[in-house]
Amino acid sequence: MRAPISDLPLVLDDVSLQAGATVILSRLSLTITPGAPTLIVGPNGAGKTSLLRLCMGLAAPSAGRVTWGGRTDRAPLRRAILFQRPVMLRRTTAANVAYALAIEEISRGCASVGVTLSVNNSLYCDPLLKYGTDAQKERWLKPFAAGEKLGCFGLTEPQAGSDAAEQRTTAVRRGDKYVVNGTKNWITNGPVADAMVLFTMTDLSKGTKGITAFVVDTGTPGFLRQKSDEKLGICASPSCTIFFENMEVPVANRLGQEGEGFKIAMSTLDGGRIGIAAQAIGIGMAAFEEARDYAKLRKTFDVPIAQHQAIQFMLADMITELEAARLLTLRAASLKDSGARHSRESSMAKLYASEAANRVADKAVQIHGGMGYSKELDVERHFRDARITEIYEGTSEIQRLVISNALLK
Ligand code: CAA
Repeated sequence: MRAPISDLPLVLDDVSLQAGATVILSRLSLTITPGAPTLIVGPNGAGKTSLLRLCMGLAAPSAGRVTWGGRTDRAPLRRAILFQRPVMLRRTTAANVAYALAIEEISRGCASVGVTLSVNNSLYCDPLLKYGTDAQKERWLKPFAAGEKLGCFGLTEPQAGSDAAEQRTTAVRRGDKYVVNGTKNWITNGPVADAMVLFTMTDLSKGTKGITAFVVDTGTPGFLRQKSDEKLGICASPSCTIFFENMEVPVANRLGQEGEGFKIAMSTLDGGRIGIAAQAIGIGMAAFEEARDYAKLRKTFDVPIAQHQAIQFMLADMITELEAARLLTLRAASLKDSGARHSRESSMAKLYASEAANRVADKAVQIHGGMGYSKELDVERHFRDARITEIYEGTSEIQRLVISNALLK
């Protein structure tokens, strides 16, 4: 049975949409199989709503322009976080595929909300789900997967960006506590997060095998957030530097064993990169759709510019790249669903999707001509938002390293 998405009942907390129905998302059909999860929705229990409309609703008209400090309405963010609950708590066969599709749709409306969700879901909740004890999951996962609290991921340091092994934040064991000192920067969600998955050095002499992970309450004395970063794009996604000054963390907050931190970080990023690939596709789709619609309206030489072959070819290339990126991303998500290692596939998806999104956003500005350079239209925001997808969660150069290392093993 096929039904337009707006006719489908989508019920919060119940992922069992009509079995056998097909949801059409960005022209991609997703068939709902009985018992499998699908996309979930419903702000505060609303019974019937459209995923697409919800996502567009999340993207308040001002979404791309606001800065976090004071003016941003946090309600859309909270609603967005509700999205992840079934994906995180119900381990079902297509959770990551559904999740990638949801991140794409959300990012199509607002890339900032997309990354807020992706970091909380992929980089904070996922390592707790995978490496946390039952007690840790109860306290540090459930409220974060339910959208009541927000998490962040503390890996990057001033000297440890691409070279993540260069951790200098130290955790020194004192009885049943560790004392943490150091600095993390570019921490997405950092200014507003309730907890952080934190990576530290517990033994500097052991290299990557001296790195240990913790989960930390951001209200702990010695957890010192600095002012929000000012950025080129994703302006409604807050990030900041964080200093740790003699911060005491109970041993019970350690995630995994001492020395397991680097593998936890790397395997977590394998999942995170799927989220960023999906975010990039969402941004690219928004830019493409605006360019296509504008091309039908704008006239030059007495005809809509869509009738000029130069524009037609640009549009054809844009959508082809986006659909190729989506297939790579869904393949990586599907491998993650199967439990197989997906480092290479996630890196391919993130590399291709982020670079494609930038090419698409660039062409979208070009198709808009002077209007593409104006802050009056959203296409300028997509152009700025796309840029970060080639940088965070591993630059394009790092993705090429991961892919070539896997090839040459
Ligand atoms: N899964 C499990 N284990 C892994 C792994 C993975 N994906 N990748 C590596 N490892 C293991 C290796 O097997 C190796 O283990 P052994 O010593 O037992 O053999 C160990 O980790 C060390 O591996 P490498 O020698 O390959 O490590 P490296 O120091 O050469 O680094 C790297 C590899 C790929 C360059 C890595 O440093 C990297 O990914 N850098 C980019 C960091 C990054 O993406 N940061 C993003 C920050 S978060 C963010 O951006 C969030 C945001 O704002 C939205």
